[in-house]
Amino acid sequence: MPQIVDGKAISAAIKEELKAEVERLKAEGISICLAVIQVGNDPASAVYVGNKKKACAYIGIESLAYELPEETTQEELLALIGDLNGKKDVNGILVQLPLPAHIDEDEIIRAVDPKKDVDGFHPQSVGALCIGQPGFVSCTPAGIIQLLKRSGIEIAGRECVVVGRSNIVGKPMALLLLRENGTVTVAHSRTRDLKEVTGRADILIVAVGKPKMITREYVKEGAVVIDVGIHRNENNKLCGDVDYDDVAPVCSAITPVPGGVGPMTIAMLMHNCVEAGKAQ
Ligand code: GUN
Repeated sequence: MPQIVDGKAISAAIKEELKAEVERLKAEGISICLAVIQVGNDPASAVYVGNKKKACAYIGIESLAYELPEETTQEELLALIGDLNGKKDVNGILVQLPLPAHIDEDEIIRAVDPKKDVDGFHPQSVGALCIGQPGFVSCTPAGIIQLLKRSGIEIAGRECVVVGRSNIVGKPMALLLLRENGTVTVAHSRTRDLKEVTGRADILIVAVGKPKMITREYVKEGAVVIDVGIHRNENNKLCGDVDYDDVAPVCSAITPVPGGVGPMTIAMLMHNCVEAGKAQ
């Protein structure tokens, strides 16, 4: 059976390290504060935001919650972000996505001061990642790199295939694997022979948003399989983009859903907040 890449345990270890670091910083008089903005009441966003606030409390980071009504205007949201950009005691600003349809998401992302962009979504952060300069990195792909490294999985020189090209996961994932000296291919919905492409991967990262799409026909024997998807199946059970029961017997390592990539996203957000606090 494959190695189970345990995101729950690895994220817990990272949170313990961060908690100790936050205590040390407090002793030096440095405290850290994250502002979390949610517009409207998307139930999934409410769960994510709640988990982020809980993680902050556990690690010793102060969190400020801005829960704004669905009708909030672009101008009102920009004004709040402008305010928070100017506050010395706010180190990180996170605007939970998706935003309501009448809001221009790109403009909102650009409004966050890159020094406080703990989500790593600002074009300046993405550009810095692209050319190998320091900056915040999107939390889910950063968490996947930690999962691989802390599980003893070598990236350098290996064939890495990322399925999905979103701005939040696929594209930054490809850039991070490249930074780690992987040989990187990005596949997507228009890829012609997806099975042929994924079948070359030593490390296969799947972020397509389709429940159980990746079966063993897509996976080379002995590959490492990282599943970014999270869905509820017909029995209300959580599942990923990978058909775990079908793929597990043929791969060398795999992330479960839940308990794989999911918990790493918040751990890396906390990491980014601590880095923001230290830099400011
Ligand atoms: N919505 C889904 N994932 C994320 C994330 O990582 N950050 C923010 N801000 N919104 C999200």
